[in-house]
Amino acid sequence: MEEQVYVDGTFYPRSEAKVSVFDHGLLYGDGIFEGIRVYYGKVFLEKEHIDRLYDGAKAIHLQIPITKEEMAAALKKTIEVNKTTDGYIRLLVTRGVGNLGLNPYQCPKASVIIICSTIKLYSPELYEKGMFIVSVCTPACNPESKNPRIKSLNYLTNIMAKIEAHNAGCEEAVMLNTNGFVAECTGDNIFIIKNGMLKTPPSTAGILEGCTRNLVMKLAKEDGITVEEANMHRYDLYTADECFLTGTAAEIMPVTQIDARVIGTGAQGNLTIRLRELFRSFIKKYST
Ligand SMILES: Cc1ncc(COP(=O)(O)O)c(C=O)c1O
Repeated sequence: MEEQVYVDGTFYPRSEAKVSVFDHGLLYGDGIFEGIRVYYGKVFLEKEHIDRLYDGAKAIHLQIPITKEEMAAALKKTIEVNKTTDGYIRLLVTRGVGNLGLNPYQCPKASVIIICSTIKLYSPELYEKGMFIVSVCTPACNPESKNPRIKSLNYLTNIMAKIEAHNAGCEEAVMLNTNGFVAECTGDNIFIIKNGMLKTPPSTAGILEGCTRNLVMKLAKEDGITVEEANMHRYDLYTADECFLTGTAAEIMPVTQIDARVIGTGAQGNLTIRLRELFRSFIKKYST
């Protein structure tokens, strides 16, 4: 059966789900989105994703035409209609149809789109071996212009960073902010472990406050691990005992080389493995 896509309250088969060429989401990247996992037929971290979406909407002065409760119901309906047990939801809110000018006030109504699909995961071998990443020249967006805490439809900065990573033969890029501090990767947050302590950049470093990031910090604290949100230089990455990325798709991905520096032993570290175990058992508890 073709995937059924929710567009403003109606379900359309994938091949018939469309938006107007005058939608400002397309014309200007004016809108926001969420990437959400479905495990065991349940929307994972639903509240966290919905709260982040509505906060992003507020920040860009976008009125989402349905309430949070209606949004949760729409997500549930979409996974039911698609009979999804394990998969990925892409939820978008675009500014809606306007004219060719920038002015968002010309767009009377935002559009809500929910796509429920399968997800292409990294290979199990990569989780064993760990990812090789590079730091790139493209800086993370300045929070005073387009704050990375808003998961906006305009991902050009991250795409530019991704291009740099691929050109360097790596799958992921770590971006620094304009002060030279570590920010985040193109679609994931970054953590290091040094002397048994877990460290990650603060939200003020110019990052998306990942739902996975926040959960990993909580699980680590509950497990007695000291967690610190701290500004870091590339030096801190190079000299870390362990490093990993977190994200909805990647979950917890070890990083074993950064800019050709081997991290720790060059294999995934014990605390990374421990946190992945805690994360997996949290998913099971949450979803079943
Ligand atoms: C730029 C960026 N940083 C971090 C993340 C990780 O966020 P989350 O854990 O909510 O998926 C994502 C993915 O959504 C992202 O696009």
